[in-house]
Amino acid sequence: MNIQYTTKKEYGDFQTPLELANLMINILKSKKVKPEIIVEPTCGTGNILIAACSAFFSCKSIGIEINNEYCNALNKTFKNNLFINIINADIFSSFNFLKNEIVKTSNCLFIGNPPWVTNSGLSTINGTNIPIKENYKELRGIDAITGKSNFDISEYIITKLIENFCSQKAIFAFLCKTIVARNILKYIWDKNIPYKEAEIYPIDSKKYFNAAVDACFFVIDFAQKKSLKECHVFDSIENKNKKNNLGFFQGKIIGDIDKFKSYNYLGKSDYVWRNGIKHDCSKVMELTIEKGMLINGYGETVEIEDDLLFPLLKSSDIANGNIEIRKKVIVSQRYIGEDTILIKSKYPKTWKYLNSHIKDFMNRKSSIYKNKPLFSIFSIGGYSFFPIKIAISGLYKHLSFQLLLPEQNKSIMVDDTCNYIACKTEAEAEIIYALLTSPEAINYLNSIIFWDSKRPITTEILNSINLLKIADKYHFGMQYNALSSYNKSVEKENVMQMALF
Ligand SMILES: C[S@@+](CC[C@H](N)C(=O)[O-])C[C@H]1O[C@@H](n2cnc3c(N)ncnc32)[C@H](O)[C@@H]1O
Repeated sequence: MNIQYTTKKEYGDFQTPLELANLMINILKSKKVKPEIIVEPTCGTGNILIAACSAFFSCKSIGIEINNEYCNALNKTFKNNLFINIINADIFSSFNFLKNEIVKTSNCLFIGNPPWVTNSGLSTINGTNIPIKENYKELRGIDAITGKSNFDISEYIITKLIENFCSQKAIFAFLCKTIVARNILKYIWDKNIPYKEAEIYPIDSKKYFNAAVDACFFVIDFAQKKSLKECHVFDSIENKNKKNNLGFFQGKIIGDIDKFKSYNYLGKSDYVWRNGIKHDCSKVMELTIEKGMLINGYGETVEIEDDLLFPLLKSSDIANGNIEIRKKVIVSQRYIGEDTILIKSKYPKTWKYLNSHIKDFMNRKSSIYKNKPLFSIFSIGGYSFFPIKIAISGLYKHLSFQLLLPEQNKSIMVDDTCNYIACKTEAEAEIIYALLTSPEAINYLNSIIFWDSKRPITTEILNSINLLKIADKYHFGMQYNALSSYNKSVEKENVMQMALF
């Protein structure tokens, strides 16, 4: 990464094209907003501020920007207009200034596109464009954000503005990542902050910013104080067709609250959904079956004992329903932390093979492998070896559950981007599979999954399905209970699974 790009990244210096700024303004105009004060907290080269100032006849406009060159250029554009105040400052230390500048009774429009960078993203490039640590804890309400190890800088800026100005007639209209908009809504809903209306208009971030991230134009209007817990989601900033409503239920954000009301199966699964096997060493651990031979990721033929080899399906296989076995994986432990030295005497060929690639294991970056036995793996326990699994890929944007029966008496393993539950008998697995693929379950899942997430289908979501309630709906709750009852006391010692994702 060159220095210029690093600085650009640190400051989120990806200016909003005028075309997009105009789309934002058109939406606000259709709402007939009449701001007396316009504030752009990170105004950059000013496209958004320019579009806002020419659309609305405010008494005062304030643009804050850290880059002095941008401020100078913008002052020239505005020809030092007395009603427009461009300030070369750091937004993190400008909140008090804004409080002094903004009259409590005025209608305000806060608009902009703050940097889309996270604090952890900043730390990887040694960036310092971050609020001062001491300040974090003093901020009422911001604790929800800063309590997390990772948060978005734009989330911090927008939340801080909302926190300071939501009690007056203010409208907040920002381009941000969609996850940021949802986190801000959760913050508002958790705190029961009243507002008039909230809206999310997805934008094509590839087209406008050449960025591969889900982003939107997020508008929240505090002009009236209603006790709401909803946000309208549209199809796009261009088409503006209403799609669905986000909502809130028991502290959780629900993607489609209207659908959820008809398919509320939120509860606790009797089955524990887990991630597939994690080894971070696919070139060595995963072997492709080619003409009866096993070939590793280096193209080498591998001849090792069969005992530690298990059939493997990858996320793409599970998502595409392609469950013919074409790969095997070396399962070097039966439970987390098991001493792998046992392999040396029992499976000398496997031991020799793994040692011949020891560098690959040493180079695994994740700290979970530190101070663990050689060739350690994760997401492994007694449950991994139950004969039958029902699996789903966490990455793909559709619901495709697969029932995996044992292959040559061995349980099929799935990779770490998959989620699965393990069953002991076929009868049990079939009933669970039928429940999971029923319209009730599918509608429930579609109502709570955010398909725009990088990994939309998580164990947390799957573990929230109340299967008994679905079984009752179809009048076979008793059979479900009879077949799955052992699961409620499933071996506790094997439940230990690190929160890897
Ligand atoms: C994504 S750009 C958006 C610029 C402008 N809002 C637009 O949409 O055209 C983000 C801007 O925030 C500015 N910026 C980054 N960190 C800042 C800070 N701490 N205080 C003020 N401005 C900042 C950057 O220099 C950059 O111009």
